[in-house]
Amino acid sequence: MQRKSYVMRIDIITIFPEMFEGPLTESIVKRAINKGLVDIRLHNLRDYSTDKHRRVDDYPFSAGAGMVIMIEPVDNCITKLKSERDYDEVIYMSPDGDLLTQPIVNQLSLNQNLIMLCGHYKGIDERIREHLITKEISIGDYVLSGGELAAAVLTDSLVRLIPGALSDETSALSDSFQDGMVSPPVYTRPREYKGWTVPEILLSGNDRLINEWKYQQALERTKERRPEMYAKIEGRRKKEE
Ligand code: ADE
Repeated sequence: MQRKSYVMRIDIITIFPEMFEGPLTESIVKRAINKGLVDIRLHNLRDYSTDKHRRVDDYPFSAGAGMVIMIEPVDNCITKLKSERDYDEVIYMSPDGDLLTQPIVNQLSLNQNLIMLCGHYKGIDERIREHLITKEISIGDYVLSGGELAAAVLTDSLVRLIPGALSDETSALSDSFQDGMVSPPVYTRPREYKGWTVPEILLSGNDRLINEWKYQQALERTKERRPEMYAKIEGRRKKEE
C-alpha cells in the first residue's frame, strides 16, 4: 500500500511564529514531525501585508481602545494556501469559540488539512469570521494575549491522536476523557515509600481484577471531580436499562 507522505497538515497563521518554538520542537509533536506523520507550517501574517511597513492591524471603525487585524493580509494568506490544496477547516482561535473538548479533538483529528488563524489585539475584522473562517475554537473561558498558545494546545491534542505518534498506540485511547471519564490513578516503583503504599490489587497480577479496579476508580473520580461528566454516564446507563 502506498503511504501518504503525512497524515495531517496544519498551517498556522500568526504574527508571532517564534511562540511555537517549544510546543512544536519538543516531545511527541517533535517526534511526529520527524516521523513525517504531520506537516506543520507557520506563516507570518506580516509576509502577506501589502503595506510597506508590513502592518497587519488598524484602528477600529468606532471608539474604543485596541487595534484590529485587517482582512487583506489574512485573505491573501488563506487564498494562497487554498490555491495549493483543499482545506477541511479554517479555524479561528478565539475565546468566544466552541469550547475545546476531547470529542471535538477526536472529530477534528479525522481531517487531513487544517488552517489555524491566531488573533491578536482587540480581535480580527468580523468579515474574516463571516467569509473565511469555518470553525471557531476556544481553549477555555479566559482571555489569552493571542491565539498562539491556544493553537499550540489544539495542535498538540490533535497530533497525539495520529496513529504512530505515541510509542504505545493504545495509550491515547486510555487518556482521560476518551471514554467520557477522567483517568484512574497510576503508580510506579517503589512499592512502598515513607510508609506510603501502592494499592495491593495492582501487585496481584490478576488483569481482570486490576481492570475492574481501574474502571471503578475512574468512575469514582469522575463522580467526585467532574459531576457534569458523571451525569452523562448515569444518563446513558439509565437509557440502557
Ligand atoms: N485567544 C485568546 N484567548 C483565547 C482562548 N481562551 N482560546 C482560544 N483562543 C484565544
